[in-house]
Amino acid sequence: MNARRRSQLRNALRAQGGQWRDLVAEHGTPLLVLDPHRVAVQYSLLTEHLRGFRLHYAVKALPHPAVLTVLAACGSSFDVATAAEVDLVAALGVPMSRCIYTHPVKKPADISYAYGRGIRTFVVDNQIEAQKFVGRESDIRILVRLAFPNPSAKSDLSTKFGAELGEAELLVKHVATAGVRFEGFSFHVGSQGCALEPFRRAIGSTLELSKHVERTLGLTASTIDIGGGFPVSYRADARPIGAIADVVDEALGSDRRKHTLLAEPGRFIVADCMSLLTSVVGSAMRAGRQWHYLDDGVYGSYSNVMAEDVHPPILALSELEDDGRSAVMEPMTLAGPTCDSADVVARDYPMPTLGVGDVVVSPMMGAYTSVTSSRFNGIPPTPIVVAARCH
Ligand SMILES: Cc1ncc(COP(=O)(O)O)c(C=O)c1O
Repeated sequence: MNARRRSQLRNALRAQGGQWRDLVAEHGTPLLVLDPHRVAVQYSLLTEHLRGFRLHYAVKALPHPAVLTVLAACGSSFDVATAAEVDLVAALGVPMSRCIYTHPVKKPADISYAYGRGIRTFVVDNQIEAQKFVGRESDIRILVRLAFPNPSAKSDLSTKFGAELGEAELLVKHVATAGVRFEGFSFHVGSQGCALEPFRRAIGSTLELSKHVERTLGLTASTIDIGGGFPVSYRADARPIGAIADVVDEALGSDRRKHTLLAEPGRFIVADCMSLLTSVVGSAMRAGRQWHYLDDGVYGSYSNVMAEDVHPPILALSELEDDGRSAVMEPMTLAGPTCDSADVVARDYPMPTLGVGDVVVSPMMGAYTSVTSSRFNGIPPTPIVVAARCH
């Protein structure tokens, strides 16, 4: 993490230091602190920028009830991918017409369950999936998911999901002959990408395809769903949402009037709402290098390091309590608590001097962290406490 980003984070988080110390005294570490207010802030920021889009929060990113409740109150819609996620949203009392079921590959029983709960919009990306809708209720609406490769994204979803552009027309035909309604197209440009071009390219190609399908099959793609993939700043600055929104606007042009526009943001909504407090359990010098062992690691809340190659910022809690400038930074290795050599959170990472019991803080730990953690070595999930951030 460069010095500028570190100083930006210290300034932004300075007011938190005392509260975090109190929470550690009360609950111990490791501890995830969730501020639901940040969810509302990010939701409204995205709403402001993605003009005319209905936002379906991707529940998978962080399905915590405090997050879902705030989003429901903000008027958000939801993107679910499993029966368990359907139940979570249904439990909020949100009308299920505000949900879309976006997993392109599912069991027939999953479709029946989601339909029974009130979901009407589903996604398919191949002929076998389209077949699963034959004989089902005619009020089902189908989005055909397209694949747009984006190797620069941390998670290029097009390698696992999505129809090639050249197969899409035939797939739309299969959907229509299954007896359900072809509603339009969806895609996902990849999660935590660093470029604007994938949005421009995917929207341009989808609009062209929509016109082609209307001409050749007489079927209207009334909906275009641009998925998620709105990046956030971890150790370096991400593209600002305003720049992405400008590209989206420009790519849609006057065609935006012809379509219902959806997006499925996950990371952008929740990354910033949760911070991890972890402490140093042990320290050692190995081959002349300083190691510190934390009580959370890549099999726990830092699962994003291993699963996504995403690297959250890490600071010492003490940096927030003095002016931070006095601390001399030394490169060190921060390892997790399991008895396994892959459990390393950061190598050659600049930190002030640490000792056993010192608290280390990672902000930006809301998305794809606790959800993808495991119980390796029998270590229980890191508890989450809900606490509004000091301002
Ligand atoms: C279908 C779908 N929609 C939306 C998302 C959310 O993406 P992001 O967190 O990058 O916004 C994902 C993430 O995997 C996804 O698979």
